[in-house]
Order: sequence, then C-alpha cells, then structure tokens
Amino acid sequence: MSDHILVAVAWPYASADIHVGNITGSYLPADIFSRYQRLAGNHVLMVSGSDSHGTPVTVKADKEGSTPIEVYKRYHADFLTLFQKLGLTYDLFTTTHTNNHFKVAQSIFLALKENGYLYTKVEEQWFSESQNKFLPDRYVEGTCYICGYEKARGDQCDKCGSILDAHELINPRSKIDGATPILKKTEHFYLDLSKLEKPIVEFLESKQDSWRSNVVRQSLGWIKAEGLRGRPITRDLDWGIPVPINGWKGKCLYVWFEAVIGYLSAAIEWSQLTNNKDAWHSWWVDHNARTYYFIGKDNIPFHAIMWPAYLIGVEDQFEKIYEGKEGNFLNLPYDVPANEFMNLEGRKISGSANWGVWGLDFLSRYDPDPLRYYLTINMPESKDTDWDWADFLARNNNELVANWGNLANRVLSFAYKHWNGVVPTPGELRPADKEILTTIEHGFETVGNLINTIKLRPALNETMRLSSEVNKYLDQMAPWFEIKQDKEKAAKTIYTALQAIDSLKTLFAPFLPFSSEQLHKYMGYSQPLFGIQTTEIISDELNEHTVLRYLSEQSVGRWTPSQLLPGKPIQQPAPLFRKLDAKIVEEERARLNK
Ligand code: MF3
Ligand code: ZN
Repeated sequence: MSDHILVAVAWPYASADIHVGNITGSYLPADIFSRYQRLAGNHVLMVSGSDSHGTPVTVKADKEGSTPIEVYKRYHADFLTLFQKLGLTYDLFTTTHTNNHFKVAQSIFLALKENGYLYTKVEEQWFSESQNKFLPDRYVEGTCYICGYEKARGDQCDKCGSILDAHELINPRSKIDGATPILKKTEHFYLDLSKLEKPIVEFLESKQDSWRSNVVRQSLGWIKAEGLRGRPITRDLDWGIPVPINGWKGKCLYVWFEAVIGYLSAAIEWSQLTNNKDAWHSWWVDHNARTYYFIGKDNIPFHAIMWPAYLIGVEDQFEKIYEGKEGNFLNLPYDVPANEFMNLEGRKISGSANWGVWGLDFLSRYDPDPLRYYLTINMPESKDTDWDWADFLARNNNELVANWGNLANRVLSFAYKHWNGVVPTPGELRPADKEILTTIEHGFETVGNLINTIKLRPALNETMRLSSEVNKYLDQMAPWFEIKQDKEKAAKTIYTALQAIDSLKTLFAPFLPFSSEQLHKYMGYSQPLFGIQTTEIISDELNEHTVLRYLSEQSVGRWTPSQLLPGKPIQQPAPLFRKLDAKIVEEERARLNK
C-alpha cells in the first residue's frame, strides 16, 4: 500500500549562510527520510522555501546599505545552489515572497478572524520621528534597567542575558541614526490562544507516546508555565505581507506567523506547477496522510503549539476564503521530530564570530556524500553533538573509505578483471553465501524500520555494520586465493559479494545518494536510482522567483534486495570515496575564527 507523506522542512532565514548545524538539524534528515519513503513506494511531498520577510532580512539590508529584496534574492540563490550540490530533493523549494504565499497567509489570517480567534489591542511602541516609522525592538538600544549595561538591545541584554521590556530601556536610541525615539500608540492583531489551549493540550497529550519526548515535554511545560495567552501577530513594518484589512496600511503579518503557513502554500504552489490544482488535498486533507515537520529544537513552540493552533482555529474555512469554495479541515502535524544542536569544536556555531563550517564553502573543497555521512553518523537526534575536524577525517578515512568504499571497489574491480566485465555465473550457492545474503536481505527491514521511525543515526550505523559483515565474508572466502585453485568457487564468492553490494547500494542510498547512484551505474543499470533536481523561474503578479524542484518518477518501490542476473555487464569501477590527508585538520581549524 502506498501512503501520502508530507515532509515539511524548516524554512531558512534569507539573511544568513547555512552551516552544518542547520543541515544536520533539519534539511538533511528530511532528505534521508524522503528518499527512503520514495524508494519504499510512498507518495512524498517535500516542501520548504526561504523565510524572506521580517527584521532578520531588514537588519541585514540596513547593515550593508542594500534593500530587503536584494538580500533575500541573494541568499535564496545561494540556498538553491547549496541544496542542489548537497542533493536535497525538495519537491518544491520556494520562498515566502510569492503572490500565492501572500494569498494563502492572508486567507489563514482572515479565517482565524472570522472564527473569532483574533482581537486587536493598542499598545505603546518606540517610534522614530526622524525616520517617521516604528522601530522593532531589536532596532532600539539603550541602558539595561537590570544590570546597567549601556548597549542593551530592546529585546534582550547581551551582558546579563535578561529578556527586556523595550519600553523600559533607559536612554533609548535608534540603532539606525542614534536619535532618541518616542513612545507612540499603535494597534495590533492578537491571536487569542487562550481559546485554543484546551484542544492544543489534548493534541499534545495524544502524542505523548509517539513523539520524541523532549518535543512534547517542552511544549506542555511551556503551556503549564505561562498558560496560553494572546500573542501579537502583526507588526509595524513594511517588508512583509500586508495585513489584509482596510485601514491597516503600513502593517504586516508577523514573520513567524506567516512563515509556518508556507508549508501549506508551498504544497498548493507545487500542485499548480504540476497542473493538478487540488493535488495538495492528498497530503493536507486526506486523514490517512502523515505530515512530518523536520526542525531544530529552537523552533519547537512554533511548530508544536502555534502552527497546530492556527490549523485548529481556521476550522474548515481556509478554502472558502482562499478560493470561495466549500472547505475542508486541515491535517495536524503527525510528527515533529525536532533535532538538538550541533556545535563546532566545542563551541556554539556563530556567524558573527565566523565560528562555523559553512555548507557552500565546505563543498568547494569536499564531496557531498562525506558531509552527509559525517552529519548523519553524528546527528543530534537525542542530544547536542560536536563537529570535530579530526573526527571528520577519521570517520571519512576509517569508515567511509576503508569499510564501504573499499568493499565496493575491490569486489567490482575483481569481478570486472577476472570475468571480462560481466557478473559471474555462480551455480549452486554454498551455506556461507546464502547466509550473508540473508543477513543483508534482513537489513531492508531493520534499516527501513529505523528510518521510518526517524532514527537515522542508528539506521546508518546498522547499514555500516552490514557492510562490515560483507567485508568479513570476503576475507574468509578469500576469492583471490580461490581463483588460483578453482575459479568456480571464486565465481560463487564474487557473485554473492556483487549481489550484497548491489543491495547495500540501496540501503545506503537515502544517506549517500551520489555514491549509490555511481555504484548503480558501475553495476550496469541504465535507469538511474533517483530523479533529477532542476531550477525554474516563475513569474507571478508580485514578482519573479526561482524555485528548486525534484522531478521523480512517481513512487517506484525499489527498497528491495538485489536480484542480480549472472552474465549482466558491469563497468570498470573507480573508487567511490577519496581518502583525505591528515593535514586538512590543521588547515581547517586555522580557517575558523578569522
Ligand atoms: N527561519 C526560521 C528558522 O530558521 C523559521 C523556520 S521554520 C518556519 O529558525 F516554518 F517557520 F519557517
Ligand atoms: Zn543587562
């Protein structure tokens, strides 16, 4: 049976370079999961895009003297390049700056309003008279009223760490021009979360046994500590999605309010691109569909509380407002497998301190599969982990190259050389041959179950263990001796080993798609394992945006053991992975902190 699975991946801010912590935190696990589900024959829709609005982007633009749209476009283009190089198979990677997303987000806002979940409130906010605009909290600095630090930000003091109430800053100054702002009244929309507290708590409690415990614990803990109170969902800002109400000019939807709605709007945009306008219903409306949200732990409240709150609050009114037709209830998250953080050489990754391993920079010197390998074997699934360059080197050379890479290469080279480039004919297999093939066959179940329950690190460990088993088998049979005494015996061993690596290729494929695809070619298959990634420029009423799309054959189930036929032509292989020189450790460490 084939299932519909929505893989919703965190939307990166279009204002910062992507580092290995971001990749292992959400983008890579989502891709491994999606690739596996497609191989297993399920209908996957993996969506995300650039989180393009709000102060993260305007602060960056102000700093470099450019405009928000320039900043967003530049980072968005870099994301597309990185994700293609890393092989992240988004069915659609788009942006929040599209006409469709504006419409979808505004419709969700209006549905919540109609259903009585929004109210307005007037508050005082810092206002710059020289600039004639309201200043977001992080645009104001002044003296901390707790510790006296003179350069505290409006929202937080970097010295004592306190979360501040911007109104109470002593000696406030605008970060834009240093002028003293005044307090001025402004009106905003609030989401009345107190009305949704009961269904949210029930929803979370129903997930207590199936979700990662930190996700439920953190969310319920947060609700217990503070209770669900009204939260402002609009801002005085001009870079973003306008509040769709007359008289609210100059105000936008809060970036966190609209970004999560992207999961829905991207599914709708994908349906339009595939010329099947309502295709998204299969993931968003059909109750048998499963929706997974791959995010980092800092995003838990927005995905486990706020987003479910919007989905419950819109009831079945979204489509009515979006396109004037009978509506449907929308699916709540099936799972939110949030990851912890990855640090770097014992310290927190930081853009401003240049303490990071940056995706594009890394890939200018190394291949994608070694990165995917290290980030999976070291994935922060249950606790924070650490990127350590010496460990990266060791795992590349001693595991990826020495175990799996060498196995594939020595078996294929030996077969190619001694049997004229075809798979040998084995005759009747011996017990030892059958035993190793059964072991590998069993891997489709164990590795598959681990991936399906999002235990990716144990899944890759198990796959490596199977590869070691085949290495052991090979060392025991020693076909390089067998061939000298009895070529028929060697044929049995090499046939068995070829079959085993052909299966291992599939088991490794979700994790190491590039080398598995390469090996698949060496094994003489003409149809590729995976589909292709392309970019496309799309024009809408708002502007033009470029998207990344994964074009796959619809759900071909190939998560099955190899059925290699004797006599099948194979190709002359080359090593799948490169051994790295020990000197890279010092070179890479020297790049940090500069
Ligand atoms: N851009 C934010 C972050 O990276 C939010 C990501 S998830 C979203 O932390 F769905 F809310 F966009
Ligand atoms: Zn302070």
